[in-house]
Amino acid sequence: MAPPPHRRARALLTTAGFLRELYAGKARVRWAAYVKRAPLARATLAPWRDDPYAQYELIRQRGVLVPGIDRDAVATVNHAMCKAVLRHRSFGTHGRESVGRDPEQFNLSLLEMDPPDHTRVRRVAAPAFTPRRMAAYGESITALVDRLVDEARTRGTFDLQKEIAAPLPISVISELLGVPDADYDVFIRYGAALGTALDGIQSLRHAREALQARGYLERMFTRLIEQRRTDPREDLLTVLAQNEGGAIRPEEMLPLCSLLLVAGFETTVNLIGNAVHQLLRHRDQWALLTADPSLAGRAIEETLRFDPPVQLTSRVCKEPTEIDGRSFRRGQWVVTVIGGANRDPAVFDDPGRFDIMRTDNADHLAFSSGIHYCIGAPLARLEAVSALRAIAERMPNLRLAGPVPMRGSTVIHGVRELPVTA
Ligand code: HEM
Repeated sequence: MAPPPHRRARALLTTAGFLRELYAGKARVRWAAYVKRAPLARATLAPWRDDPYAQYELIRQRGVLVPGIDRDAVATVNHAMCKAVLRHRSFGTHGRESVGRDPEQFNLSLLEMDPPDHTRVRRVAAPAFTPRRMAAYGESITALVDRLVDEARTRGTFDLQKEIAAPLPISVISELLGVPDADYDVFIRYGAALGTALDGIQSLRHAREALQARGYLERMFTRLIEQRRTDPREDLLTVLAQNEGGAIRPEEMLPLCSLLLVAGFETTVNLIGNAVHQLLRHRDQWALLTADPSLAGRAIEETLRFDPPVQLTSRVCKEPTEIDGRSFRRGQWVVTVIGGANRDPAVFDDPGRFDIMRTDNADHLAFSSGIHYCIGAPLARLEAVSALRAIAERMPNLRLAGPVPMRGSTVIHGVRELPVTA
């Protein structure tokens, strides 16, 4: 926004002010050229990233592949292209360099591994998340949800993100892994620092926080794994500890534990928050749900399509490849914009409509596709459906109680606070 004219005139009286104005003018020109060249850029910056969907439509109009933000990348909001790239064997998750070599880089474990290493490590963690295993968690999740919802309801007006959406997944994944007495406030702060690190490090302060977070989690997991070696329990950390040195190399342990913990709550918190947010913005849909809370599963599925917690991911081409008549060179990065693919009119009828009764949303890409398909999808669904159902049953008059500030990140998409009145 331009400063008011009087301030502008005064600013121009000083050399610094003049230079600043000159720079701002040049920056605007450069910015316009940049946005024209890389239409995805706008969707990643304030204020557009808070509601990036209109930007995705502009990208869709430009074609199946548009220039990405980095020089070597292209981006796509096309559902068929996203799905093909995510599932294609010629595409991987990192370049030639080996993951984790650079100590300053965040090692995202499975998310940055390609076969055969990826297959080897994923095989150890996956059995903990099968739907059958999940069914066993159902009861304790319902009990926890009931407690959180009842406590929040007594407050009248409260921040749903803080009181329900955040503590639920933190408790559940901590228990599943075997992290005792989870320190919620610390996890929330560090989880956010690591979650936003997916957008790239924004500032020195952010770098410090992310490094602190990594240090904290690594110290915690080193201690717990040590304990599990001598004192095995019925938890996922014990399974991982038993496989260390076998299927899991020692240096792969801490990144895997950290990924499981942070992926377990940084995303699910936003699924619950985005679902309630969209339902309260679309009152007719909220009315449908409160009339029949067993529709919670459908409402969660529609939220995953319409407002997914993970907006994009990317892959790099490993060998010259052609998909649907389009060529990709080796080393070419492709940004697959999940939030855009989920609104592709070729797949979803009237995609901009939030409609919990729709039957055509099964093919959304909110959990990705192919070998990196989210390992925690059954758990995320279980938690979110359970929470939404209880909220609809016990707080049918729920309404927004103020403006809803967004998180301000690109990859992870959700609200920072969700002020509501029960
Ligand atoms: C609504 C909640 C969630 C969403 C939207 C979500 C989304 C995703 C997406 C999009 C990917 C793949 C990224 C890519 O292809 O590059 C992924 C992978 C993964 N997710 Fe989730 N996730 C959620 C919940 C969870 C939970 C509860 C866990 C539990 C630990 C979890 C653990 C993982 C892991 C370990 C991977 C890596 C899998 C691999 O690379 O093979 N996620 N998730």
